[in-house]
Amino acid sequence: MTDGDRELFARCAGGFEQVLGQELRALRMRRVRPQVGGAIFFGTLADAYRACLWLRAATRVQLVLARVPATDADALHQGVAALPWERHVPPGATIAVDAHGENPNLRNTRFVALKVKDAICDRLRAVRGTRPDVDARNPDLSVNVAVHPKKATVYLNLSGPSLHRRGYRQDGAQTEAPLKETLAASVLLAAGWPDIARAGGCLADPMCGSGTLAIEAAMIAANVAPGLLRARWGFEGWSCHDRALWDEVRGEAQGRRVQAADIRVVAGDADPRAVEIARANARRAGVADLMRLHVGDAADLARHLRFLQARGDAGGLMVANPPYGRRLLSDADLPGVNAALSAAVEALPAGWRVAVITPDTGVDTALGRIPEQVIACHNGPIETWVRLYRTDSAPRLTHEVVSLAGRRQQVSVSEPNSAQFAARLRKVAKERVRWARRAATSCFRVYDADLPDYALSVDLYVGVAASEGDRYAVVREHRRPRSVDAQRAARRFADAVALVSATLDVPAGQVLAHQWQEGGDPSSGRGGRRAAPVPLCVGEGGLTLTIDLAGRPDTGLPLGQRGVRELVGSLAPGTRFANLTATSGAASVYAAAAGAASTVSVDAFPDRVDWVRTIMAANSFSGSRHRFVSVDLRSWLERELRAHHAYDLILCVPPAWMPARAPGEGDWELRRDHVALLGKAARLLAPGGRLVFACERRELRVDVAALEALGLCVEDVSDRTLPHDFERSAAAHRCHVIRWGDRARPRS
Ligand SMILES: C[S@@+](CC[C@H](N)C(=O)[O-])C[C@H]1O[C@@H](n2cnc3c(N)ncnc32)[C@H](O)[C@@H]1O
Repeated sequence: MTDGDRELFARCAGGFEQVLGQELRALRMRRVRPQVGGAIFFGTLADAYRACLWLRAATRVQLVLARVPATDADALHQGVAALPWERHVPPGATIAVDAHGENPNLRNTRFVALKVKDAICDRLRAVRGTRPDVDARNPDLSVNVAVHPKKATVYLNLSGPSLHRRGYRQDGAQTEAPLKETLAASVLLAAGWPDIARAGGCLADPMCGSGTLAIEAAMIAANVAPGLLRARWGFEGWSCHDRALWDEVRGEAQGRRVQAADIRVVAGDADPRAVEIARANARRAGVADLMRLHVGDAADLARHLRFLQARGDAGGLMVANPPYGRRLLSDADLPGVNAALSAAVEALPAGWRVAVITPDTGVDTALGRIPEQVIACHNGPIETWVRLYRTDSAPRLTHEVVSLAGRRQQVSVSEPNSAQFAARLRKVAKERVRWARRAATSCFRVYDADLPDYALSVDLYVGVAASEGDRYAVVREHRRPRSVDAQRAARRFADAVALVSATLDVPAGQVLAHQWQEGGDPSSGRGGRRAAPVPLCVGEGGLTLTIDLAGRPDTGLPLGQRGVRELVGSLAPGTRFANLTATSGAASVYAAAAGAASTVSVDAFPDRVDWVRTIMAANSFSGSRHRFVSVDLRSWLERELRAHHAYDLILCVPPAWMPARAPGEGDWELRRDHVALLGKAARLLAPGGRLVFACERRELRVDVAALEALGLCVEDVSDRTLPHDFERSAAAHRCHVIRWGDRARPRS
């Protein structure tokens, strides 16, 4: 690695990729390219050491070893075993492998990690005669694998344990809900703290908890490398580690600390214990001399900033990570917290900036300010926002909202047009609520890109049975054309989320917002990361179904296919029903409830099959009449045809793409291959049987002529199965009922 640049990848929290890119450029790394969840860059071994030691937003620094085929487990094993592991793993060293990502043939990350570990061990045994031991907790060398649709990237973890472990936090002595050090640093970088600090400005955190933001800010102001206190690094167990070079990089960093001339950080908390912990952490971080800590209410912040008057105006940044809803306080306490924050902001010296980390969009209204920038991110499992304001910023823009329940509320918005969005949302939602009552459904779409500037959908979920009284909304931003100003779109999206909460009477923490991200999978929420499950009981068509609002790629109840489920229910009495692709598993419940003689639910993903099993059991549909099969759809069809099984009703909602099952087979694509698949499914139909084919793809043209040439009759029932609340998405909705024509059904 000393002989030139190598490809490296630094990971960071989603939403801070650009911040990380700026850090890498400031460290003079080459060919820096931010990507979803991190940034690619190129550098020498010394650069890699510098990245590990100096990056504040990164959680991990990895060396890219190779990209290998990953169409299935064998291809992965072969690709990994072909890599020269003997050059990286010293004799006697222990290893660990972790994996993330999935594709339809490699769905289980533990299985992938095991396969890769086996491949490394096989390679080393062949070359050296011995296999390395595995130590999952404390390995000498750790390997990471990212699985993509066709390939996997194999990395060496150079940084080792997550970089948020700076080494200044004492185990055991914790306040509630501390921020990760890397997230705190990312927020400070995004808020422009390095420039403010260089200009001699001050930072204030009036709700400092264990002091993470304050300590990270002090470290930035004093140019302290964030990794200096860390005891362990991933590269220490690597054959190519150059100890002398590392000592040089560390020594250089130690010499760059700026000695404190005055106080740069003021931090306080209402809880004396939190302040004690913050003080101890600051001492361990070696920055206590730059900080002034106090016990007190945030509303009194001005008192603690008085000493700045003697210093002249150098500007400043107030940061706050207030307690909120589901983690620290009940929603009922939010007004008190917001009032204290507002008092703190009102008393700040002129020209200060403010950054608030909270999932509560109501904070704009409380501060009476429009955020200049809004960043969507995760704080642990919680989806939250970083809202950046200037105290001398645009005037207060408030909009009065009357909610569906008649509550009046003032909501701060950034964009004047957001008032139009609010009016439209309320009008459509009122009509939908009345319609949904008649249709006996408790979850439905209330807004569907009705205004071009607000290209997003809003689905309202009202809990029933065990979830009675709960209300959630899911807001999904549509693909954003490049021509749209990203900042403006982000402000509109943030406005929309706040207005959805106020208009639909959904608590702020229960609006699940999925902002579209360049390069991210739009169906998978922010940054494509899995969020903690949000289970909810909802009602539809007289049935009670449990859904997971955070589920990917859908909640388990695709609302746009409600009409397809109803059709299945109407055709199901007395039938042997097969539900292919159980993402739409609720259709199995519809069929069983309508009196199907038997059901089988098939899906390639075991977790989806488990989900259908669970909702079926919750509706008392279990036992041998109801089967659940986790297998590739194509393989299931072939197996059933060979076994001469027959079904009276089949629902097929295939995915857009399926990978090759075996080398040389080729992948499967909906547009190209739907006729062949439907032909096979139709051969499973018993005399008089029906195949319901549905999908939600604007670009698909169902090849009716080719299906008819097979002897099938195809009836387009798209209009009939389009739910009222999805009429604006009619162009994407397809549903056909397929059956054999008068000609005899071919024998399988
Ligand atoms: C989410 S925690 C902050 C965590 C902190 N960022 C960390 O990394 O440890 C919120 C803190 O706000 C404090 N707090 C709540 N209301 C307050 C108020 N009115 N004034 C000052 N502190 C308050 C709580 O005591 C708690 O420590």
